[in-house]
Amino acid sequence: MLTIEPTGATLGATVTGADLSIALSEADFGQILKGLGDHGVLRFPNQHLEPAEVYHFSVRFGEIQGPSRVDPNEVVDPLAYVGILSNIKENGEYIGSPDAGQDWHTDMSYRDIRGFVNVLYGMKIPRRNGKALGGTEFGNMAAAYDALSEDMKIRLDGMTATHDFEKFWEHMRRDRNSGRPPMTDEQRRRRPPVVHKLVLVHPISGRKILYCNPGYAIRINELPQAESDAMLQYLFKHQLEMRFRYTHEWNENDLLIWDHLSTIHRAIDDYGPDEIRLMRRCQVMATKVFDPEFLRPVWLAA
Ligand code: SIN
Repeated sequence: MLTIEPTGATLGATVTGADLSIALSEADFGQILKGLGDHGVLRFPNQHLEPAEVYHFSVRFGEIQGPSRVDPNEVVDPLAYVGILSNIKENGEYIGSPDAGQDWHTDMSYRDIRGFVNVLYGMKIPRRNGKALGGTEFGNMAAAYDALSEDMKIRLDGMTATHDFEKFWEHMRRDRNSGRPPMTDEQRRRRPPVVHKLVLVHPISGRKILYCNPGYAIRINELPQAESDAMLQYLFKHQLEMRFRYTHEWNENDLLIWDHLSTIHRAIDDYGPDEIRLMRRCQVMATKVFDPEFLRPVWLAA
């Protein structure tokens, strides 16, 4: 039987009794969705998963961001959707993506269809003096919304924010020495800025959420530029107050999932180049469990 035990912190719960290498029953999957809505971050310890098993678990939540297909009929190997995050180099080249998202962001808020779930499987965790490094830190955006003043909630009601992929890209080039070249016109064409509501109602928990992250949000569209800049600075500071934060300390074979709608996150860069961190990742979009436009749970509509 599946058990979900909350951490007691602002986010997070541990799920036991599930072997994610085999298909979950509908009832167990429903319990996991409910747990995700309630706790934002779920840890499944002691999982032993091949890449294909990470893919099959992830795709239950929605389509996975992956290689773009020029020919829509082209069959793509599912494993192309399971990414590697790692600082391992082979023959001078990183074996996957070396930038493990070390600044605050919400994956895929820069896309018209929002990200729903991140699935991260910890294969090698850096340790120093027995202490795990390279944790993943989260901010609880339902709690951040609740803590806004009533005046501010009224002010933000109905507003929208523009999210731009290039903001994070340029930040990585400028401030993180990431070695990426500037975005090409073709990359800009594939990732144009998008607009989302600033406050969402979470489709599982029903709570209001501040959907605006420092990684990608560039503008509040209903305000003049200077007021938008000031409001974004205020919201970015507010949402990172310590009372909204929770850090997941990794163990090897943890599979962690989190809800992108109600959290922001970053990887903590407290480990060196010789301290190996190796993760597999699927970034799942809100295409299946919800109506993507209105974020209504489709299983309730059925
Ligand atoms: C991410 O930003 O998607 C990954 C976070 C992590 O590596 O801890």
